[in-house]
Amino acid sequence: MEATEQLAAISKYTSQKLAGDATGHGIDHINRVVTNAKMLLAEEPSADYLITLSSAYLHDVIDDKLVSDVLTAQRNVERFLSSIGFGPDQVQTVMFIINNMSFSKSLTDDQHPLPLEGQIVQDADRLDAIGAIGIARAIYYGGHHSEKIYDPKIKPRQNMTKAEYRNLDNETIINHFYEKLLKLPDSMNTPVAKKIAKGRQKTMTDFLENFKAEWNGMR
Ligand code: ADP
Ligand code: NI
Repeated sequence: MEATEQLAAISKYTSQKLAGDATGHGIDHINRVVTNAKMLLAEEPSADYLITLSSAYLHDVIDDKLVSDVLTAQRNVERFLSSIGFGPDQVQTVMFIINNMSFSKSLTDDQHPLPLEGQIVQDADRLDAIGAIGIARAIYYGGHHSEKIYDPKIKPRQNMTKAEYRNLDNETIINHFYEKLLKLPDSMNTPVAKKIAKGRQKTMTDFLENFKAEWNGMR
């Protein structure tokens, strides 16, 4: 199979796995991450195109917040990639990237540096978590999980473990910006993503400023 055909098969696999997602991780998110990854690839010619885009398509299909049985989901992806002609090294690299790129993983002490392809996909995913799209996704996700919009009495949490981060009992949508989203621009790997993230950070800080002014009854 040629790379184009392999990527078409992977895209179809992901569409099936994420069909019906109502948490902001649907195929529209995946397609934006792939678009972002292509844009970043254009600036990083030494990165492997197939590994980068395969990881972009597959990065959420093994995520513990979206699938109940992570190990089975991982085995299924490995088997699927082999079935479309990925060699053992390619399978291993894609699995390594998608298992180690998430924000929640960065809250654990099991961290491993990503190869350039993984750094690109991580940036591509993080760009889709910030800016105007990021605001919409946080509200969508928060609503899905019955979070309050805002409560000035609840302070943003600091130095969370992964388990604390996933516990939404006392979470608010606005606090999620302080706990995660505003920190993402500084965590970008590639120069282009860093630059784009700066503009999107301003979109978020402007939003938060206006939100609080309106909350306090400013006309
Ligand atoms: P990762 O998959 O990198 O670990 P997350 O699972 O933390 O990332 O988040 C994926 C997206 O879901 C975020 O970009 C954000 O928009 C949304 N999200 C995650 N946690 C929350 C939350 N507590 N409140 C609102 N949105 C959230
Ligand atoms: Ni994602």
